[in-house]
Amino acid sequence: MIVVTAPMGNIGSQVLVNILDSGERIRVIARDPSKLPARVLGRVEVIEGSHSEAAVVAKAFEGADRVFWLVPGDPRAPSAEAAYVDFARPACEAFKILGVKQVVGISALGRGWPEDAGHVTGTLKMDDLIASTGVSYRALACASLMENVLRQAALIRDHGAFYWPTPGNLKEPACATRDVAAVAVRLLLDPSWTGVDIVPMLGPEDISFDEMMTIISDVIGKPVQYHLMSMDDLKAMMIQRGASEGMAQAMVNMMTAKNEGMDHLVERTASSSSDTPTSFRQWCEDVLKPAMSA
Ligand SMILES: NC(=O)c1ccc[n+]([C@@H]2O[C@H](COP(=O)([O-])OP(=O)(O)OC[C@H]3O[C@@H](n4cnc5c(N)ncnc54)[C@H](OP(=O)(O)O)[C@@H]3O)[C@@H](O)[C@H]2O)c1
Repeated sequence: MIVVTAPMGNIGSQVLVNILDSGERIRVIARDPSKLPARVLGRVEVIEGSHSEAAVVAKAFEGADRVFWLVPGDPRAPSAEAAYVDFARPACEAFKILGVKQVVGISALGRGWPEDAGHVTGTLKMDDLIASTGVSYRALACASLMENVLRQAALIRDHGAFYWPTPGNLKEPACATRDVAAVAVRLLLDPSWTGVDIVPMLGPEDISFDEMMTIISDVIGKPVQYHLMSMDDLKAMMIQRGASEGMAQAMVNMMTAKNEGMDHLVERTASSSSDTPTSFRQWCEDVLKPAMSA
């Protein structure tokens, strides 16, 4: 049996849809099962609650041998350590007690970065905790997700503007959630792998925000201007939207580390390129453009 956490999120929903016809027994953990899509209902077992709760994961992992693990990174948590490591503690206990064999988790690039990198540091400590339970683990180490752009879809549409605290000409890896979900599905349906490893999700090429804006402008047929915002403004914006001081600072620390080269610690290989083939242009055509006209 495969358990899917965060089944209504960007990545989790695509994982779920892509394993529905696999013939495997599937169980999902959902805080509000009424939000599950109709095509899923009746085809999966549903455990109601959060995968941060001991009683919920104890029920969900009973009889399960594989788990898709994704931590939402609650912006109201006091710190990145609380948001990722503490969130995962009950599940890690349950992995041990209930004999879960394989876990495929959503992680981040940045292993080896010497400074605190906020969300990334929390995520990598979570990976270590999961690995320490003795399960076989694959950490899908994601570059920045192309879907982050969707958060500014209204600004792009209404004002032709996009704001972020990264120099516009800095080329960084970026990957699409569809590719991350596809690799997760491949691993979840393969009982043969063992041990602990990292799978880098780098996208097909490094790309700057200036290049992204050119592509977006081309695809939506309207000029979009990139605006560099300060880290102070990013932090203030997060706090104004309800984030804790600790999580707002964690975001600043992560973005600072990315600007200083954290996402370039891993080289792109033939295997990482074929795992994450979706180009930013393709993603704009398939995801951003329809989202903007919806
Ligand atoms: N964005 C990036 O560039 C990037 C890069 C590297 C790694 N990552 C990692 O990717 C993950 C985010 O993936 P995603 O974009 O697919 O997530 P997402 O779309 O934000 O989905 C997260 C889901 O978690 C559920 N959720 C929220 N709070 C919860 C709680 N307290 N307990 C249980 N469920 C909760 C929400 O569903 P309900 O509200 O319906 O419960 C939501 O659908 C994070 O771990 C992040 O660190 C992101």
